[in-house]
Formats: sequence, C-alpha cells, structure tokens
Amino acid sequence: MCGIIGVTGTGPAVPRLIDSLKRLEYRGYDSAGVAALVDGKIERRRAKGKIRELEAVLAAEPLNATIGIGHTRWATHGAPTTANAHPHKAGRVTLVHNGIIENFAELKAELVAEGHAFESQTDTEVVAHLLDSELGKANDPLVAFKTVLDRLTGAYALAVLIEGEDGLILGARRGSPLVVGWGEGEMYLGSDALAVGPFTQKISYLEEGDFVAIDRSGARMFDASGAPADRPIVQVSASSALVEKGEYRHFMEKEIHEQPDSVQHTLSEYLDFVNGKAKSGEIDFATIERIQIVACGTAFYAGQIGRYAFERLAGLPCDVEIASEFRYRHPALTKGTLAVAVSQSGETADTLASLTWCKAQGLKTAALVNVHSSSMAREAGTLWPTHAGPEIGVASTKAFTAQVAALLALAVTAGVQRGRIDPATEGELVRALFEAPRLIAESMAMEGSLKDVAHDLSKATDVLFLGRGAMFPLAMEGALKLKEISYIHAEGYAAGELKHGPIALIDEETPTIALAPLDDVFEKTASNLQEIAARGGPVIMIAPKGAPDPHGAGIRRVDAPDCHSLIAPLIYAIPVQLLAYYTAVQKGTDVDQPRNLAKSVTVE
Ligand code: G6P
Repeated sequence: MCGIIGVTGTGPAVPRLIDSLKRLEYRGYDSAGVAALVDGKIERRRAKGKIRELEAVLAAEPLNATIGIGHTRWATHGAPTTANAHPHKAGRVTLVHNGIIENFAELKAELVAEGHAFESQTDTEVVAHLLDSELGKANDPLVAFKTVLDRLTGAYALAVLIEGEDGLILGARRGSPLVVGWGEGEMYLGSDALAVGPFTQKISYLEEGDFVAIDRSGARMFDASGAPADRPIVQVSASSALVEKGEYRHFMEKEIHEQPDSVQHTLSEYLDFVNGKAKSGEIDFATIERIQIVACGTAFYAGQIGRYAFERLAGLPCDVEIASEFRYRHPALTKGTLAVAVSQSGETADTLASLTWCKAQGLKTAALVNVHSSSMAREAGTLWPTHAGPEIGVASTKAFTAQVAALLALAVTAGVQRGRIDPATEGELVRALFEAPRLIAESMAMEGSLKDVAHDLSKATDVLFLGRGAMFPLAMEGALKLKEISYIHAEGYAAGELKHGPIALIDEETPTIALAPLDDVFEKTASNLQEIAARGGPVIMIAPKGAPDPHGAGIRRVDAPDCHSLIAPLIYAIPVQLLAYYTAVQKGTDVDQPRNLAKSVTVE
C-alpha cells in the first residue's frame, strides 16, 4: 500500500515529509520520493529502495521549501525504479497516488496522440498530464481537478502540487483512504492518521469520492458531486501506535474498509498490470500434477475458493482439507503434489504440522501467509505472501480476501503455464482482477441496506447462507463470520443441496442469505430461492441490480456491483462481512474479541 503525505506551512517541509514517510514504512514499499515548491518551481527527489536512499539524495541536493508532498511506492504498474517512483510530473503539475487508475491505457493513448510525452510506466502519470491539460483550459485548479477526477476509473488517493499555486495542495480519495490534518498555520494530507501523527492529532477523514484543497490556513472539502462538504474534525489518540482504529468503531470495521488497498497490494505481488500478465514465480505449475491445500477456519474457505479457480482455469486437480483432519488421517499423496498451507498467521499448529508432514514426504511445499517471517513461511519451500497488513480483529476479513486474491491470481498463472489460458484470456482475467479494488470499494455502498438486514438477523436464532460454485465456500465463510461474532447459529450450504436436508429448517423465523452473482448458475440459485420463499422463509438475495427477479414473493434484494465471475468471491465477501459485523454491533457483542476465540491457534 503506497503511503502519502502532504505538508503546507511556514516551517521546513521536507524533514517533515521524511519523518512521515518513515512512519508509513510499515505499509511496505520499494521506492520513495518527495516534491517541493522551491522559489515558485517544483523540484523532485526520488530514489529506489529505502528512505535512507532518498535521504542520501536529499543530502546531496537539499530542498528548502515550506510546502511539499511525499510518497512511498509499492510497485503495481512498472518496476520499482527511480523513473517509476512518485511524485510524477507533467508541466505545472506534480502528484503522488495510491491505488490503480484502471483506464490509464485509454487515457495515455489519448494524451500521447495529443503530443504528451511520458517518462514512466505508471498509471499515475496520466493523471498529472490530464490535470496539466485541464489547467490550460480552466483557471480554477479545483474546477480542473474535478474534471480530471470525473474521467478516472479506479481506486485512488491523490495529493497534488501545482506550480504557480504557492501554498496549495489538492487531494482526492476514492477507494483508498486520505485524511486532512489540521495544524497551527500548517495543514497536512496523509494516507492515514499515522502519517500526520507527528504533527497533529486533529484529523478530518475524507469520505468516498471527496476532494479537497488545503493551504496554510485551512481546508475546503467537497463531495463527489462537487458540493462543499463539511467533514468533522476529530481528535485521534496522541500515540503513534502502528495500528489504530482511526475513524472506525472496531478493528473489524476498519479492516473491512481496508480491503481495496490490501487486495490491490496482494494482487500486485502476482500480476503485472502494465502488460496484463500473470507473473511466473518459483513454482512452474506445468510440472505440478495436483495441489493439496491445508488450512483452518477462514483460510480453509479461501482455499476452497482457490480450488474452483485452479481446476476451472488450469485443469489442475486440487484438494482442500481442514488441517486438523489432514494431519492425522495418513493421506495418500502422489509425488507430483504441491502442498499449500494457507494461513493468516503462519503459526496455526495443525496447518504447520500438516505442512511439515508434507515436506517430510518429499513433496514440494508452499505457504500462502500474511506474516512473512512466520513458522510456515520459513518451513515451506516457497513463500507466497499476502499483503493484508496487520490484522487485529479475531474474525478474519482482509486476510481472507488477500488469500482469495492471491489464489485467483496464482490460478491464472497456472492456467497460462499449463497452456489452458491463451494471451487474450489472460489479459481479460488480469483486467478483471485489476477491477477488484474499485469494485470492493463500491461494495461498501451496500452498507445501508445491510444494516437494515442485520437488524432483522440479530433477532434470528438460525440463519442459512446459500451459494453455488465459488459462492458455496463463501456462504460457509459467511456463516462462520456470523457465528463467530454474533453468536447466532448459521450454516453455509451449496444451494443445490437445499432439498437434501436444510429445506426442513425453513420457516418464517429462519432467514436465508443468498449469494447470487449473475453467473452461469444464477438461474439455478434463483429457483432454490423460490422454493424457500414458497415455504414462507425470508430470503435476502445479494445479486447485481441487472439480475432478474426470482419468481415468487417475499424475496428482499440487496444490490451488489456487476463484476466478472472470477472476482465475485472478492466482491461478495464484503456484504458477507458487513452483515456479520452489523449483526454483532446490533447485538452488542465484543466484535474484535469474540468469546472463546483466539486469533491464532498455536495449540491443538
Ligand atoms: C483461528 C482464527 C480464525 C482463523 C483460523 C486460522 O480460528 O480465529 O479467524 O481463520 O484460526 O488461522 P490462520 O492464522 O492459520 O489463518
């Protein structure tokens, strides 16, 4: 996750930018840079590698300024080089960005045709060129900025300096967070409260689609429509602890909202966005005969979603098993099997023991883990990292979607290496994955309807989750989330299995949550929902707006964004998590530390 800081004041800006960038190091990065307005001219200093490299560049060529922006970059579009490091510059405009501009290729082609010359491979640079063009047409920087924002598709947080606009920094957020920090005669923009923590504890959290202009005396904030917006100033804790709840009530809520970033960060490990390709890693899937995934809890469901993708896209047989069963049942595995441990912590005792056992059998092993120095990371032959960042809520959310994102991307790699996916299909699938961060951000719009549903769920004693295909393991994950934090009994079922038992549970008191993306089995799920409605069971169907209404009365709909079926598990994970979260809030349970549960189970 890239880090952003902007400072406009009267004292030296650059040491402050560096101080802040150091606090953002925890997000992971591979290059860093700053830009500052020096005597009316914007100057940049950038370096590949760590902040100390940037400090060395600055020591050789100092920047004395009272206004500047800084960035730590986690490469998505283009290698981690100095030329690709932010800030990016075009004409009067210099800016930093966190996120993905999905339509950058179209915009770039248009700008190149108009004579713009690009110096990096990044998606970000198009924004600088577009804004520079617009500034030539509109006198007001905010008008020009709004015109540019309206042309961007994707998830982003931006901080912008403009030559000739001394004291001014523009900012915008969609999908990726951005905060305004209020100082005395000095104002700040930052990726999070931590970024501005050394300077102020007074923060305004920008909302989805907001944009802002800050100068030394204050901030003017606007909503997505361009209307002035008033975002309250809140006092955040003075501590600069790595993980804070910020604007959220619980860590779980915060972590749900971090998913556009954590999924993007994870995908960039496995995909080359510039060229629309899946990266090849240490493992050549063409030499693998079978995958055996072992995991516990939520990670087990992520593994099951991965199985659908490995088999469908790569024709690679894939088994997924709960580690506590696997390790004691003497499974018969063939030599060509790749054993994969999936785990947030990398320490879960049963998963680790299963991995160790597979290694002892002479199998190839990989660990898909969020803690990269964990026991599993060290034990496995290959480390497949997820980049969800520290997850504090006991009920896993962002680690789960990071696992799913990595597995989907790896399945595309496997499909390419095994000759099952041609270059055109590879491009289509990578583009689909590339849209996930924005669609995850858009999924948060379901929050209002889901709060209403949660109100009803909180009165239920039993809840059924249904889905087909990859939505089946997600249905089980939804049931697990609800059980874990709201203490309501819930079951996740394959919708087609309804008639073989669970339909006997249906009555007016037992709600069914149906996960129904518009895929090749939508009609089948819809007819299962009619069967439930016909028996008086309340049904909540989460489906895209364009999906037809199942015949039969009483089915309540929650509109999800349209998406490619490959990424549906990532998009539908959001309503599933929000439902569990709001039901638990409604019931007043301890959301972040539910009774009897531990974040990491290192004993049997
Ligand atoms: C515990 C946690 C779950 C988690 C499971 C596996 O039960 O409460 O949220 O899914 O362990 O943890 P791991 O760290 O291996 O993913």
